[in-house]
Amino acid sequence: MYTAKFRYKMRPCYFIQTKPYICKLVNMSFASTIFAFLLFTFTFSYFSFKLLLHPKQKTTNQKKPPGPPTLPIIGNLHQLGTLPHRTLQSLSKKYGPIMSLQLGQVPAIVISSSKAAESFLKTHDINFASRPRIQGSELMSYGSKGIAFCEYGPYWRSVRKFCTLKLFSTSKVEMFGPIRKEELDVLVKSLEKASLVGEVVNVSEVVENLIEDIVYKMILGRSKYEQFDLKKLVQEGLILIGAFNLADYVPWLGVFDLQGLTRACKKVSKSLDELLELIITEHEQATNVHKNRHEDFVDILVSIMHQSIDHENEQNLVIDRTNVKAILLDMIVAAIDTSATSIEWILSELLRHPRVMKNLQDEIQNEVGNKRMVEEKDLKKFNYLDMVIDETLRLYPVAPLLVPRECRERITIDDYFIKEKTRLIVNAWAIGRDPNVWSENAEEFYPERFIDKKMNYQGQEFESIPFGSGRRRCPGIQLGLITVKFVIAQLVHCFNWQLPYNISPSNLNMEEKFGLTIPRAQHLQAIPSYRLAVVKHE
Ligand code: HEM
Ligand SMILES: *[C@@H]1O[C@H](CO)[C@@H](O)[C@H](O)[C@H]1NC(C)=O
Repeated sequence: MYTAKFRYKMRPCYFIQTKPYICKLVNMSFASTIFAFLLFTFTFSYFSFKLLLHPKQKTTNQKKPPGPPTLPIIGNLHQLGTLPHRTLQSLSKKYGPIMSLQLGQVPAIVISSSKAAESFLKTHDINFASRPRIQGSELMSYGSKGIAFCEYGPYWRSVRKFCTLKLFSTSKVEMFGPIRKEELDVLVKSLEKASLVGEVVNVSEVVENLIEDIVYKMILGRSKYEQFDLKKLVQEGLILIGAFNLADYVPWLGVFDLQGLTRACKKVSKSLDELLELIITEHEQATNVHKNRHEDFVDILVSIMHQSIDHENEQNLVIDRTNVKAILLDMIVAAIDTSATSIEWILSELLRHPRVMKNLQDEIQNEVGNKRMVEEKDLKKFNYLDMVIDETLRLYPVAPLLVPRECRERITIDDYFIKEKTRLIVNAWAIGRDPNVWSENAEEFYPERFIDKKMNYQGQEFESIPFGSGRRRCPGIQLGLITVKFVIAQLVHCFNWQLPYNISPSNLNMEEKFGLTIPRAQHLQAIPSYRLAVVKHE
């Protein structure tokens, strides 16, 4: 295995976790020399340019949104800290809901209120429907040829439309139901065993394994390969894509690969490519042979390879093997951590609030009794479950800053001038906790606040946007929600849950860490005890 891996494992320095890297940068003698040199050159040439050339300042109507003062070269990078969503929230209290930041060389706007989110993601959505090019996804996702990190344009529009129709439609979500049931049944059986001996279960771990198995079976057809450690490989890829990469903000540092990320990305992406090649070839050969296995995402994508995917589009786009691989990778990246982390937070809040747990168990038991397990078709009857999920996603939008957008053309919004290529960061975490919208108990977990307010996440409401909004909002909402609901309903219906002996509901640690998503900083542990009257598995 490559040596760089341990660095990321030991110090999970994700997306914008700047400080450790900046420190490391300064500690390394080689790097610090370069850094000092570049700093000097840059500052020197910048000031000479200003002094000698006196470039005309265009001041009229070019007012930037307010923001904190910046340092040369790094701008505001040093201010982001280890939990950027929290730091940005407190900065926005000082500078306002539309705030300017300078992330190295990249100008950025940070949005921190639902009103501002509506303006950027609804009124001006089309102008912000692109994604910035990020080195990690360029290297891992075949030059961002998939869907999630792909720039706005005819290709992305066609792929998005195709995926929405063929992979995320209601009928497809239902078609994958048996996979969810099968995998969840396996977990319930193993928890029953744990329950017999009063074992403490690593809930974070079993939930992640469950979601991985469901997602891999749905997307790839199976979750295990003899030749490859699929899960480990993807987890390494996820860490690298989520890592804070200085080169994304100070591009001319990229050539030095100071963090070793480029090398690590190339290595992981080569293995992932071999794996995806194997999977696609396997599907191409199997299509005519045994038709009895269920259809997965690879089948659907392979069936349209080399064909036009969007007949209305005058450019007549054809997707090739590389596109298929990139789309598959993006789907895996988008589906696993989001769903697993959501479930982790919901269970944590239920364990902290026995009253809510009891209400939820009663609601489910009133519908299905205590003699059988929950089935997916029961889910639509559970209103309180919806409230619990909406409340958790409000407090823990698992992608707290969504996925960054990029301004396509310069624009003036609320008298603020925003130039093209400005990065748009939407602080969904701050929006969900805005006391002006959610009243002074905004920080409290209180599902009842949703009693008369059913969220549908279809882009009309901006008070809580865990799935984003507008053209780039999550296309997997239905799929994600049904999985999360089913898992929660089943686990609280089949089991009572207790925290380990030394932890009480009021002192359960609820700290998060920052990466592609915000999982719990400490893994959740709990003791299940089986609560159904008759064990009934078919
Ligand atoms: C609870 C589960 C999930 C949550 C909270 C979630 C959240 C999000 C968020 C916040 C975004 C960015 C939206 C934006 O930029 O405005 C996103 C994008 C995306 N999600 Fe999800 N997601 C979930 C599940 C899934 C699943 C299960 C899939 C697919 C199997 C999926 C596929 C995608 C894709 C492809 C994108 C990129 C869309 C684009 O750029 O056009 N998501 N998701
Ligand atoms: C829980 O599982 C994770 C891996 O998913 C592991 O890193 C962690 O150490 C486990 N925690 C305990 C206390 O066993």
